Amino acid sequence: MKKILILGGTAWLGRTLCEQALARGHEVHALARGSHEFAAGVQPIVADRSLPGPYEAASAHHWDLVVELTRDPAQARGALEALSERAEHWVNVSSCSAYADQSTPGADEDNDVLEPLPPETPEADYDYGRAKSYGEYITMEARGGRALVVRSGLIGGPGDPSGRSTYWPLRFSEERRPVLVPNDPRNELSVQIIDVRDLAAFILAAGLAGLHGQVNAVGEQTSLHDALRMAQAAGEGDRPSPSGMEPGVSSVPYDLTRLEADDVNVWAGPRSLPLVPPPGPEHAGFARRSDARSLAMGLQRRGLEETFVDIVRATPAGAVASLNSGLSPDEEAALIAVSSG
Ligand SMILES: NC(=O)c1ccc[n+]([C@@H]2O[C@H](COP(=O)([O-])OP(=O)(O)OC[C@H]3O[C@@H](n4cnc5c(N)ncnc54)[C@H](OP(=O)(O)O)[C@@H]3O)[C@@H](O)[C@H]2O)c1
Repeated sequence: MKKILILGGTAWLGRTLCEQALARGHEVHALARGSHEFAAGVQPIVADRSLPGPYEAASAHHWDLVVELTRDPAQARGALEALSERAEHWVNVSSCSAYADQSTPGADEDNDVLEPLPPETPEADYDYGRAKSYGEYITMEARGGRALVVRSGLIGGPGDPSGRSTYWPLRFSEERRPVLVPNDPRNELSVQIIDVRDLAAFILAAGLAGLHGQVNAVGEQTSLHDALRMAQAAGEGDRPSPSGMEPGVSSVPYDLTRLEADDVNVWAGPRSLPLVPPPGPEHAGFARRSDARSLAMGLQRRGLEETFVDIVRATPAGAVASLNSGLSPDEEAALIAVSSG
């Protein structure tokens, strides 16, 4: 049994880490304010990291593994100052958003990251990719390179708070037809979704094994076209075709050259077509990161079909309306009218 501290641990990935570590028989502590609930069985350390002295209780222990999830440079630095000497192994959960360049398909971990965002930066100038880059930098600096930086790609799975991985399977699971789907006639667009459960398992195993360095943790590269087909299969399940709908007319293709004119967003958020990567050559490497190092380090990934099926099984009917990404029924109907006209 190992003693593990999750800095965060009450939101989505953090909670999954806690649950998996507990299921493997470890002693798990999570440090957070508690505005999200702590998982059952976790030993909570309630502290606000924006106030003085948040690591006092945690520094009374010796940790086999610390996993840091923060997006805040000052929190990343403060935790290392207080706890690095008390920790055998350390994982910093970073992001592929930390890379300086998103234009090169197949880019690996040796590519440059963004200029680190200093902890004193005013809130108005906050930049997520640069903040994660600072977290990486200060972790390696404080630990003399003896840490693992896990650069995650898009995380998906049941409970995804962003709605990016859940929108399509849940939309297809609704009776309401037709579904507006992005058209990619030359099959050029791709997705790389890592299931939150596979990511958590990798972080724990690689962290406890004391692996060091930087690693991309991304899903298998899949064409957007295939991902949508899998989402449709997961969403429709064994349900017969909606009454009056012939096979093949249950979706309406959306011409992506219309995005700007129709004021439709890509990737995420309201009035969006989730998972569609941002346009332009500067994003040609988006969702096309090298996964070779993570696979060599032991990352095991379930198929995207399974992720989508589990999303549908775990989500109450009608939940698509309250996702943080996608089109509302009215927005979709208006775009379908334009697209079919
Ligand atoms: N989602 C993606 O597709 C994606 C892609 C790449 C990388 N990532 C990375 O993956 C990780 C996701 O982590 P997550 O899902 O667990 O969500 P999260 O929103 O990053 O979790 C934040 C955690 O920190 C705690 N926290 C926030 N402010 C705090 C404060 N002032 N003091 C103490 N605790 C505080 C929160 O709990 P309380 O509110 O209870 O305090 C929560 O447990 C992040 O590192 C993110 O950058 C995500």
